[in-house]
Amino acid sequence: MRCRGLERTLIIVKPDAVGRRLTGRILSLFEENDLRIVGVKMVRLSEEQAGEFYAVHKDKEFYDNLVSYMTSGECVPVALEGASAVARVRSLCGDTDPSKAEKGTVRASYGLSITMNSIHASDSPDTARREVGFFFPDLV
Ligand code: CMP
Repeated sequence: MRCRGLERTLIIVKPDAVGRRLTGRILSLFEENDLRIVGVKMVRLSEEQAGEFYAVHKDKEFYDNLVSYMTSGECVPVALEGASAVARVRSLCGDTDPSKAEKGTVRASYGLSITMNSIHASDSPDTARREVGFFFPDLV
């Protein structure tokens, strides 16, 4: 059961990080920061699923590249729960561009490029509800 005041958010450990066997290390960082894993699975996204998940970026110049990358290997979507989870998880992930991310964040430690940036995290409570539901319909 979810305690009052706790928030849920979604991360996806992306194919570059899964492929380099970094999933455990990345998830440890969240657990060490009082975030609880309430849903986890490994998936290989279809083009249709990746396109639907990233529909908000459909008109961006990086969209095709993003969909092609996200379907290139296994991903690990994870639902996390904790106080102010959405903001705290985004801060632990760091800037979208790994070269600008703060030291100690997931993207500074492991990201390879703005596309292969190791992790996705929901950007607001509304997005988090949609994204948690996308992979874990029973959790919303
Ligand atoms: P993510 O948090 O998964 O959300 C959208 C993704 O698009 C982002 O991380 C990046 O991996 C990817 N992306 C590729 N190019 C860009 C760009 N120029 N600006 C923002 N995101 C980009």
